[in-house]
Amino acid sequence: MYRTHTCGDLRLKDAGKEITLAGWVQTIRKFGAITFIDLRDRYGITQLLLGEDLHQQLGENPLGREWVLRVHGIVAERSNKNPNIPTGDIEVRIISFDVLNKSVTPPFTIQDDTDGGDDLRMKFRYLDLRRNEVKKNLELRYAVNRAARNYLHENNFMDIETPFLIKSTPEGARDFVVPSRMNPGQFYALPQSPQTFKQLLMVSGYDRYYQIVKCFRDEDLRADRQPEFTQIDCEMSFVEQEDILNMFEGMIKYIFKQVNGIDYREPVQRMSWEDAMWDYGNDKPDLRFGMKVANLKSAFKKSGKAIATGELIAGAGFGVFDNAETVVAIAVPGAAEYTRKQTDELTEWVKRPQIGMQGLVYIKCAADGSFKSSIDKFYDAARLRSIATATGASAGDLILILAGPEERTRKAISELRLELGQRMGLRKRNEFRLLWVLDFPLFEYSEEDNRWVARHHPFTAPKPDQIETMIGNSPVIEKASEYLQHPYAHIKANAYDMVLNGNEIGGGSIRIYQRELQEKMFSALGMSEEESLHKFGFLLGAFEYGAPPHGGIAFGFDRLCAILGGSESIRDFIAFPKNNSGRDMMLDAPATIDEKQLEELSIQLRIKK
Ligand code: AMO
Repeated sequence: MYRTHTCGDLRLKDAGKEITLAGWVQTIRKFGAITFIDLRDRYGITQLLLGEDLHQQLGENPLGREWVLRVHGIVAERSNKNPNIPTGDIEVRIISFDVLNKSVTPPFTIQDDTDGGDDLRMKFRYLDLRRNEVKKNLELRYAVNRAARNYLHENNFMDIETPFLIKSTPEGARDFVVPSRMNPGQFYALPQSPQTFKQLLMVSGYDRYYQIVKCFRDEDLRADRQPEFTQIDCEMSFVEQEDILNMFEGMIKYIFKQVNGIDYREPVQRMSWEDAMWDYGNDKPDLRFGMKVANLKSAFKKSGKAIATGELIAGAGFGVFDNAETVVAIAVPGAAEYTRKQTDELTEWVKRPQIGMQGLVYIKCAADGSFKSSIDKFYDAARLRSIATATGASAGDLILILAGPEERTRKAISELRLELGQRMGLRKRNEFRLLWVLDFPLFEYSEEDNRWVARHHPFTAPKPDQIETMIGNSPVIEKASEYLQHPYAHIKANAYDMVLNGNEIGGGSIRIYQRELQEKMFSALGMSEEESLHKFGFLLGAFEYGAPPHGGIAFGFDRLCAILGGSESIRDFIAFPKNNSGRDMMLDAPATIDEKQLEELSIQLRIKK
């Protein structure tokens, strides 16, 4: 037997046993004639004791960090126990050992608190992967994978693979393309998702499909975005939105239970997109804490509810509010005691280019019911009190107000709310709040391209009672600035996002399954008949052969793992990730290819400077 145990196995009850271990040298400590070695493998660390006699065997070659050893020895109780590791009660007194391989000195220490910076660890990712922290993340990823598969299998879903070399599937990003040697001048696109394939599988009658699958998107990268990432991709036939919400709420709760031991009993909260934007300035609100946005004035008209006209703040002669499209506020609990320095710092924070505000107005609600604000000159106590009431502020709170153009101001108040939540420790890593965001608009207007674009993707169905509005109206817009008046701006989609702690972890929709409606959708998006046939003729054709009503969802698997593991960065949960410029630092990819390969692909390069 190559080894009898792993480095994580041995306990006090094994004392006296003769055993064989294999692993990597983590540390070597010499005390006179005796040497202690920590031997590491995937399962743990075991302390070895190397006596003087054996030490001499090494001669000129002292052992080094990360050398690979096989040791034969006897398990003994340790005099100096280490309560921090499971094997801390014992050590192995070495009888004999083999050096299986040497190692050069690693570029960083392979320990929990490593001295290696991000770039170095990315370059030597195979060494970083030896670290306990990273290993724990990959173990969590595997646990999420297993739990998802179990749940889906139990619910009759079938894992079916779909191709990677395909024609473009639009999900709003650029495609990665692959040249075809056998078809000179032609390119495959890598899938941004298996969207059209899973719909075709529904036409084929596989009524419950899933796949844990790589997707490829050429887009700007952030902590929660990689150019290749993994989805838990699912589709079902003969369902309504409610069936999908129930099925996948069930899946996430099952994963919570299996992976983190969390019993998430309550039904997942639901919120319309409009409420999310109105109350949090964001379509993926973090509900672990309050601080709802108060809309003091807005250009954004909220249907079915009172429109904030700005009466509360109008007529005081304060130009900043009077001239702004939007004025929004949050009440920060218990922050009335912030010093001038602290409010100045927050003002600088909102003025940073990423946030882009001109300034920040504050009102301090003192414990005695009085107010102190940066707008005392314009607003008397009675008016400040009305604003405080509108924001839901209590004595001791600090009201922060932003004013400016609708979109930017709403985004800024959302960022400010998150920042304060963070600073006040309200975004706890071990607390999980799920949310369904529903009733998204079907279309968004792109002023840049002067046309409608699909908010989710072009296969998403409108709410059944709004199909008429879509079919009965031409998508043409006379004046771009007046797009909000067009009926298309108000059509809601049968689409849903799942949000976890302020992150979009999944999104999906009920699909269009009739050719005519799909054609109408393509034309609404500005595609000619010829173009839609060229791009999606296969799907339109399939819809003529008995396509069932269907819908689905895809979860960002990397994101889900990262959040469950208490991290913001999905990189930590991917074995071989890319950096923010889309580079694999270890492989040094992307890279140029040689002339011969270009020749075979019939490609001549002309690099734009
Ligand atoms: P969508 O584009 O919303 O939907 O993607 C689904 C989920 O995938 C995750 N995600 C990403 N994760 C890491 N890096 C990225 N670059 C990245 N982009 C997206 C997000 C997102 O919620 N075909 C549809 C699904 C459907 O309609 O069924 C789709 O791909 O967590």
